[in-house]
This record gives sequence, C-alpha cells and structure tokens, in this order.
Amino acid sequence: MSSYRVAELLHEGKAKRVFATDRPDLVAIEFKDDATAFNAQKKAQLQGKGALNCRISALIFEHLRAAGVPTHYLGIDGERWMLVRPVRIVPVEVVVRNLAAGSLCRQLPIAPGSELDPPLLDLYYKDDALGDPLLTEARLQRLELLTEPQRQRLEQLAFAINAALISLFDRCDLQLVDFKVELGFTADGELVLADEISPDTCRLWDRGQSDSNDRILDKDRFRQDLGGVIEAYGEVLKRVQGVCPEASIYG
Ligand code: TMP
Ligand code: ASP
Repeated sequence: MSSYRVAELLHEGKAKRVFATDRPDLVAIEFKDDATAFNAQKKAQLQGKGALNCRISALIFEHLRAAGVPTHYLGIDGERWMLVRPVRIVPVEVVVRNLAAGSLCRQLPIAPGSELDPPLLDLYYKDDALGDPLLTEARLQRLELLTEPQRQRLEQLAFAINAALISLFDRCDLQLVDFKVELGFTADGELVLADEISPDTCRLWDRGQSDSNDRILDKDRFRQDLGGVIEAYGEVLKRVQGVCPEASIYG
C-alpha cells in the first residue's frame, strides 16, 4: 500500500523541493540544506539543516494532528523526505505572534519582547518578487484568495496551532515567540496545515537562558550572524524528541 516512486519536480522553494509521485494521493517533499534570509539576499548552505527540519516538522505535525489540527503530513522516509497529501497552497503567510520581535518591532513602536495578549495575527501575501507585503482585510478580499468563511477558518486554525505549539514547546522549556505557517486546500476542499514548522519558521527562545543572544534557538541565529545554527536546531530536535513519540516512518 505504501510503495511509491518520486516523479517530476513540481516546485522548488528556498528550503524545499516538492515532487509528484507515481501516486496521485501522494507528494514528496525534500528538505534542503539551503538557508536564506531577507528575501534570499543572504544565503548559505548549512549541512544537516534539511534533515533536522524534516524530523522536527514531522514530530510537530504529529503533535498537531493529535491535537485535532488537520495537516498535509503522512510520514517521513529517510533523513530528509516527507510524504504529504497534495494541496493547493493558499498564497498567504500566516504569522502568529506571542511576543514582539522581528518585523513587528521594526515597523511599529513596540518594544522587543513585549507580551502580545491576545496573540497578534498578521497575514502576508506570499510573493517573493513583491517582498511578501502585509495584507489588510480589504486587500485580502480584493485579491479573492479566500471566501469570508475560509478566512475565518484559516484564523481559527492559526490560533489552534498556536495553542497546541505553546503547550508542546512549554514542555521543552522553549518559549514560542512567533511563527509562520502556510495552509492549503486538499482535493476535497478541506483547509489543512501544510509546508513545515521548524526553527526556520518559528522564533524559539530557551527559557533556561537569560542572555538575549544565547537564548535564541532558531533562524535568527543565521539572520543575525550569531553562529551555532545547526547546534541550536539540534537542541530543538533533542527537546522535541524528549516529549513527542518518534515520527512515523512512511511505509
Ligand atoms: P517577521 O518578524 O520577519 O515578520 O517573522 C515572523 C515569523 O515568521 C518568524 O517566526 C519568522 C517567520 N518567517 C518565515 O517563516 N518566513 C519568512 O519569510 C519570514 C519573513 C518570517
Ligand atoms: N525565508 C525568507 C527568506 O529567505 C525570510 C526569512 O526567513 O527571514 O528570505
């Protein structure tokens, strides 16, 4: 039931390649070692990043599925391959922020580290050429990317994902500052979590470290040239493995 063959490349992103398989119900994602930031103005190869993000994402998707969040995830195969259901990605980057950091503090007079309660939800139009601009509700309506019930469902899912991630990372002694997710529609029209959730797409602070640089265990280490990127991702995997059952191997 589970054998498949990887077929043509459907899409190459900055950190992953997406392939069709010889089965219409199965898509294969390869996690790359490429790291980019600032809309790919900064680039590097970080050996081992693909495998770490694949494994971390798999464990997180399994945790979210158990918490009732529908996902594209089916399993992993080898170190850096994930099998997923095919989805039509909604070109919206959904960001949930629990503490102020990053672009929020650059764009608004909000001090880094300020608590955001309730969490702040920001939607961005996913388009590298346009620099992923912030969407307003009116702009979203004008683009006709989602119906109103679909937008409400997307926001409901984003907050449910936030709650489930906070509870997972709390058990890892990690603070979830913010994260970005992408969602997609399955063939039968269900909106599900897609893409990845990893230290590339989350800000995670080690609660056991008070130093504002030492506590960073996510892609900000790369963005800010802090070094120790792979070590930080490895630490996240170790902690997530400590509280999650092993990821299921596809097949
Ligand atoms: P920001 O502070 O740059 O707006 O980022 C918010 C969160 O979204 C942070 O956890 C990093 C993540 N993110 C991505 O995953 N991809 C992106 O392209 C950007 C800009 C942010
Ligand atoms: N992923 C984006 C890029 O490659 C931005 C970022 O994560 O900072 O440019």
